[in-house]
Amino acid sequence: MTDLVDRAREVVPGGAQTGLREQAFYPDDIAFASADGATMTTVEGETYTDYHLAFGPVVLGHGDETVDAAVRDAIDDGVLFGTATAPLEVEVAERIVDSLPSAEMVNFCNSGSEATYHAIRLARAYTDNETVLKFEGCYHGWHDYVDVNVYPPADQVGERHPESAGILDAAVDATEVVPFNDLGAVEAVFRERGEELAAVILEPIPHSVGCLLPDPEFLDGLETLCEEYDVPLVFDEVITAFRHSPHGVQRELGVDPDLTCVAKALGNGYPVAAVAGTEQLLSQAGGDNTDGVVISGTYSGNRVGLAAARATVDALAERDVQGHLTDLGERYREGLRDLMADHGVEGRVVGHRSIFSPQFGVTGEPRTYEDVVELDEERFRTYARGMRERGHFFTPNPFKRHHLSTAHGEEHLERYLADADDVLTEL
Ligand SMILES: Cc1ncc(COP(=O)(O)O)c(C=O)c1O
Repeated sequence: MTDLVDRAREVVPGGAQTGLREQAFYPDDIAFASADGATMTTVEGETYTDYHLAFGPVVLGHGDETVDAAVRDAIDDGVLFGTATAPLEVEVAERIVDSLPSAEMVNFCNSGSEATYHAIRLARAYTDNETVLKFEGCYHGWHDYVDVNVYPPADQVGERHPESAGILDAAVDATEVVPFNDLGAVEAVFRERGEELAAVILEPIPHSVGCLLPDPEFLDGLETLCEEYDVPLVFDEVITAFRHSPHGVQRELGVDPDLTCVAKALGNGYPVAAVAGTEQLLSQAGGDNTDGVVISGTYSGNRVGLAAARATVDALAERDVQGHLTDLGERYREGLRDLMADHGVEGRVVGHRSIFSPQFGVTGEPRTYEDVVELDEERFRTYARGMRERGHFFTPNPFKRHHLSTAHGEEHLERYLADADDVLTEL
């Protein structure tokens, strides 16, 4: 194993495929070789209950038979056509239009970042403006348009904070950042520069920092301002759509965004994503593109992702997924809250439906990134390590979250809470 990680470090920066996965974040080297249902197994044969689920996509559990069989069937007829219309893309687009209340048309791509990129290009083309309004603590992918003020350190909250070296200054300049749930701050930007805005983009429930629940007045206010100034409202439902509900959270929150980005749970782990929205905005990408919006991608609409998406969306409609996951999520949250209280551990458990995050050293309902930034990172890492030693895997990043799938059930809950009881005693 050490040999494998040493080899990885020779040929892959940080020994893993993205910054957040780097070996450096794990207390001991770790490498997974397989996954099945609610578990993942390392190259050394240790099996863990998986609460990471690859940052969330795997809503039906690893290796769901229906989804995998659908992919196998589809690829028997070819993987990539790259021409004109194909039946599978029409079928999945129709399903998304039927599921998401605000969607009239759909364009496919392969990742959440591509979806937010396309959404912003569509919005910029529509408004002929450049400036995008986003919220601190919301992550919308790795590209320059949006990778700004996601996780600024406490002493830089509210200040200009590109998340990566190499980001264009002009892109950061074209991004206005305000605190989540702060309608006053949004109104101030609209009053000052409403005519210059190209889009307002948000995670309607920002799970990138655990879980911030939106005030209904905040969302109503955003919707009203966007309508008044004719600025597209973009919901980044990359985490929430199909995981929390096939209708996204937009239905339960009662907001009709102009554009919605979906990815992750749409394909139960297979790479597929989409930007969906009004015909007015999406149709800018049709035609011969000589003066319209270019949305492009060799692998967009590939049959692996689309077959997975069709089977996942159908499975979510046929099985009682949301009922099971919501109930289970609530029981994890309540169980963990009770344990933290019993052990006198300062902290809280935030979350919604199948997502939860224990956060140490902070209390009360978080409403903005500022309410999260000072959580006790070291304590979380100690908790993650203790739980991992007892067979439960989740990322040791304290701002991230646990996810549940339909493969998780009563036995996992009981074991998790019994082991959390132990670990919290040590904490
Ligand atoms: C809310 C949100 N938007 C966008 C993205 C980017 O998606 P991807 O990693 O597929 O590019 C992510 C990824 O974690 C996300 O959580």
